[in-house]
Amino acid sequence: MRTRAVVDLAVVRHNARTLAARATHGARQMAVVKADGYGHGAAAVARAALDAGAAWLGVATVAEGAQLRDAGVAAPILVLGPVAPGDADTAVARDLAVTVFARDDLPEALDRRAAAHGRAARVHLKVDTGMGRVGVHPRDAPDLADRLRSLPNLDLEGVFTHFATADEEDLSFARRQLARFREVLAALAARGVRPALRHAANTAATLALPDSHLDLVRNGIGIYGLWPSPVLRGAADLRPALRWEVRVAQVKEVASGTPLSYGATHVTRGRRRIATLPVGYGDGYPRALSNRGEVVVAGRRAPIVGRVCMDMTLVDVTGAPRVRAGDEAVLIGSQGAAEVSADAIAAWTGTINYEVTCAIGRRVPRVYR
Ligand SMILES: Cc1ncc(COP(=O)(O)O)c(C=O)c1O
Repeated sequence: MRTRAVVDLAVVRHNARTLAARATHGARQMAVVKADGYGHGAAAVARAALDAGAAWLGVATVAEGAQLRDAGVAAPILVLGPVAPGDADTAVARDLAVTVFARDDLPEALDRRAAAHGRAARVHLKVDTGMGRVGVHPRDAPDLADRLRSLPNLDLEGVFTHFATADEEDLSFARRQLARFREVLAALAARGVRPALRHAANTAATLALPDSHLDLVRNGIGIYGLWPSPVLRGAADLRPALRWEVRVAQVKEVASGTPLSYGATHVTRGRRRIATLPVGYGDGYPRALSNRGEVVVAGRRAPIVGRVCMDMTLVDVTGAPRVRAGDEAVLIGSQGAAEVSADAIAAWTGTINYEVTCAIGRRVPRVYR
């Protein structure tokens, strides 16, 4: 195989259990598997997390939820992102809980489709306590809840919010968000609205802000064994579940002064051994790694030389004279004592580990252990 991403589902289960064990007051766990399980494969990760005891799954879109249903997943699924009224029918038909937050006609559309299907439409009210993206203003939450309750085929089973800074050293803003959320819960309760599932915590808050656990913690990045931010590194026994491998396609000795790859941005100094890896930005391996990143091959790190191409990348393996075509190189993961993490790629390319694994392309087969 040219390249593949190997996902260890035993590690996913371990991570899910580790995070669930941190949840206080009996809070249940939602495994967040949007964006194809942060690039790991949504259905496989969902099954592993459910095996480990997760009660819910979170996705971003109705299509993602429907794909899980197509894969035979029967567990409760919440669509965390905005849903267009035109998707209400699919949401109800596939029994996907829907996030509502605005005064659009989505609740009425859900109510009509629920009546047609003869089942309740499950909804979770999203409150914007400080993230600034979707969510009803705290002031308007009770009126929206009243409106939802007036629709006979809606089941308001949840109310939630999302933290902007729970992964930072200074948790004061996250605490203010939590306080605002508690005020909303109290205002709803004053009108007799007490949804069964109150939720706020992402992975970072699961690790750092126990007061926020409420009825459900929503764990994404930690399930995959990655840290929400450097601040939380080592805060629990989480292990990376994904290893990205590639087979060396060719190794050649080149003379000093040899230009390499598009733009000839790297010119060798001295005789070098250059390996071609059959992977590139067409696979989601960032072009920004050109002349910056490293891979692991023959148990040591080797630098990327020249520009990363759409389908190929060159690395200097002069320090590993035994490397041959067909040998394994590791783009994310370890070999012997040497490692390249998703965090390292993120640091080289100016992003976060979330984006690195989400970007791994469809052309890279996911293989499960
Ligand atoms: C609404 C919501 N909840 C929970 C999560 C999971 O966050 P994390 O991956 O940091 O655990 C996300 C992911 O971005 C999200 O958008």
